Amino acid sequence: MGITISPTNEGTGSGLTIGGKAGIDPAGSEAARRQFRDTLGHFCTGVTVMTALVPHKDGTPGTEYVGITVSSFNSLSLDPPMILWSIARDSVSYNCYQVGSAFAVNVLSVEQEALAHRFARTGRDKFDGVPLHIGLDAVPLIDGCVVYLECRTEARYPGGDHDIIVGRVRRIFNIGKAPLLFHIGALRGLGV
Ligand SMILES: Cc1cc2nc3c(=O)[nH]c(=O)nc-3n(C[C@H](O)[C@H](O)[C@H](O)COP(=O)(O)O)c2cc1C
Repeated sequence: MGITISPTNEGTGSGLTIGGKAGIDPAGSEAARRQFRDTLGHFCTGVTVMTALVPHKDGTPGTEYVGITVSSFNSLSLDPPMILWSIARDSVSYNCYQVGSAFAVNVLSVEQEALAHRFARTGRDKFDGVPLHIGLDAVPLIDGCVVYLECRTEARYPGGDHDIIVGRVRRIFNIGKAPLLFHIGALRGLGV
């Protein structure tokens, strides 16, 4: 069967409607940018917390734990084992996760919704009372997660208002619990 070119767009794609909806330029206006965000939210993801041990961010001697809730995590390469995620340029933790440094991917379970909220708020008390295991290079692993991937940052690439972080995976733990999901701005379970 051949391709039918609609007389409304004459092969250029302009004026196309799908299911009665017109296409939107996501860079067009503030409302269009909101629609872009909402559109991306329909791609259901898991929820992770990226943890690391870094020198104090205020420059005082010593180290501190950092952790940030992240849904942009994805697989990248099987051989060698690599993953990626992205960090907002305006994140307080933007300068953590530098090339060569260690971090861990903590994939949250459906019972850890409170932790997803906690690590999505800037503040000094993110780790207060959170049970931890201490992993490679003293990076904290949050107890009760589905899986853990201990990584070293291999590369960082600029990507608009985020940086893409590529991690080389050094060790994995597969505990096998039900995951927490993020879909259209809401945290939920699998519902099965
Ligand atoms: C479900 C969910 C997913 C998120 N995913 C990301 C992400 O992929 N990248 C990112 O930079 N921030 C993401 N955030 C926002 C950060 O968690 C939030 O800005 C956090 O305050 C950053 O920590 P910091 O301010 O201590 O750096 C997400 C937040 C939530 C609730």
